[in-house]
Amino acid sequence: MNQEITCQELNSEKFIEDQIRAISETVGDGLAINALSGGVDSSVVTALGHRALGDRLKTIFVQNGLMREGEPKQVQSMFSDLDIPVEIVDSREDFFSALQGLEDPEEKREAVTQTFYKKVFGQIVNESHAKYLLQGTILTDVDETVAGIKRQHNVFEQLGIDPQEAFGYKIIEPLIQLRKDGVRKVGEALGLPEPMFNRIPFPGPALAARVIGEVTPERIEIVRKATTIVEQALSFTNAFQYMAILHEDRVTGMRNNQREFGLQIEVRCWDSVDARQASPTHVSFDVLEKLGSDITDQVPGVVSVTYNIAKKPPSTMEVV
Ligand code: XMP
Repeated sequence: MNQEITCQELNSEKFIEDQIRAISETVGDGLAINALSGGVDSSVVTALGHRALGDRLKTIFVQNGLMREGEPKQVQSMFSDLDIPVEIVDSREDFFSALQGLEDPEEKREAVTQTFYKKVFGQIVNESHAKYLLQGTILTDVDETVAGIKRQHNVFEQLGIDPQEAFGYKIIEPLIQLRKDGVRKVGEALGLPEPMFNRIPFPGPALAARVIGEVTPERIEIVRKATTIVEQALSFTNAFQYMAILHEDRVTGMRNNQREFGLQIEVRCWDSVDARQASPTHVSFDVLEKLGSDITDQVPGVVSVTYNIAKKPPSTMEVV
């Protein structure tokens, strides 16, 4: 069991010191790889790992084809400003072929997990002779996976899976005792730029967690365009997280006086402290109406936009 450190009891300076020492001791004089997605957790782990290992940490951004608009280059450039080099590995084909034909949410999550850890990182770790993968798993990821609610992409040992046996390397998880609010506090204490540690969360399976039904490059492109619009429109709310979701069902719409059997986008905007419980943000109807117009105008094929009004639980924040 991982003992929780709540945000209130967290002493960031001591936590950072302890984790740097633990990472250094574990890796010794070897090499480690670290998976950076640009989200809060992986950004904090990258900074911690870099302090502990310097050049002996190789930071990889996996371009899985499921990220937000312009994200790989943006993340690389933000870290370059911190003198942390980030290598982008293009694995788009691996992910889309693993996801092809899958509709079941847990099968989709499993496909993303296997592609990340077995295929992509298996190869990178093998080629680099690193023995460790450093990653930003947090306690909330573990809770939901162990409870059987969602198989979070980055949880293994708590499910009885030994990463060494399954993938050929060990995994180090310095943030495993924290929740999101604690991770942000550590990010601030590490001196990361505010937009990095206060960024809204983004799930490991990325936009694949926001497409109901089959994940294809075309369907990802639709949800990606809608995501850009939603993130711009709702950043002023300071909500915990906001997102666009592509539904599987089509509905009858009309454009230019012609029938259009079109797509549906659902907008979700959540108030939450640590993602365990969440409720829909009270966004004004004017803002929602503008979102409806912008999405139907700018995202090809979309004729319907809805706003989620259910709480977590029984909902969850992502749809997959
Ligand atoms: P749910 O959808 O489970 O999301 O209510 C709770 C929080 O976790 C994020 N999330 C993930 N994060 N790997 C992650 O690192 C995952 O597989 C994953 N799935 C969901 C989600 O974005 C939300 O902040």
